[in-house]
Amino acid sequence: MSEVLYAKGVDLFYGKTPAVANAHISLFSGEVAAITGQSGSGKSSLLYCLAGVLPITRGDVYFEGCSLRSLDDEKLSTLRRERFGFVFQYGELLPELTIEENTALPLRLAGRRKGDALDAAGEILGRLGLADLRKRRPSQVSGGQSQRVAVARALVHKPAVVFADEPTGSLDSSNASAVLEEFLALARSQGSAVVLVTHDAQVAARADNRYTMSDGVLTAQMEEAS
Ligand SMILES: Nc1ncnc2c1ncn2[C@@H]1O[C@H](COP(=O)(O)OP(=O)(O)O)[C@@H](O)[C@H]1O
Ligand SMILES: [Mg+2]
Repeated sequence: MSEVLYAKGVDLFYGKTPAVANAHISLFSGEVAAITGQSGSGKSSLLYCLAGVLPITRGDVYFEGCSLRSLDDEKLSTLRRERFGFVFQYGELLPELTIEENTALPLRLAGRRKGDALDAAGEILGRLGLADLRKRRPSQVSGGQSQRVAVARALVHKPAVVFADEPTGSLDSSNASAVLEEFLALARSQGSAVVLVTHDAQVAARADNRYTMSDGVLTAQMEEAS
């Protein structure tokens, strides 16, 4: 296993307000790290720093040993598009595209031909039990199904890291745990590491590494002796 993501002393300020203070995190390929903490504690802010979406104020984030701060905007956006996947609380599927077109989007953006991209989308949708929904639009599927499509889209290009911000936060608890289980199993099977932000301790319990966030301070949780 190799280290895919390493954050060293990351600070993020919104103006003069600190949102993340001196965060350190290390993630190896295929690992799942969960970050829990109360609303407003800085979880989303940290996630977007790690993903190179928000410009950090101090410290650095390294992806496969490469400093994100050393990359220009174009290189950074290529990296985000091709090596990272994202899942948000409300799937954020594009309403005018079908389920298979939504799923294929990361591959299309990376330049894959339409037929190949749709084949790969069909395969991952099949693994999530969604093959029959391929031709529908997002408005024609349930909440749980659309979060599964969001998971498929985040994983279809076999990203090195998937960043998930409350990925099951909009679902009822039985749906949430089923979607989460499928998400993590699929990510693990293809070696994609996951950074999972959640306020749900049961969700976090399924991660390899757990962190808590409080007032912008990230703390690694020690494993309990068994
Ligand atoms: N774009 C922004 N501008 C200013 N303050 C922000 C912005 N986004 C978040 N914050 C503040 O930063 C803190 C952390 O927010 P956030 O990262 O969204 O926390 P969480 O995801 O844990 O709920 C909060 O106090 C929030 O109000
Ligand atoms: Mg948040």
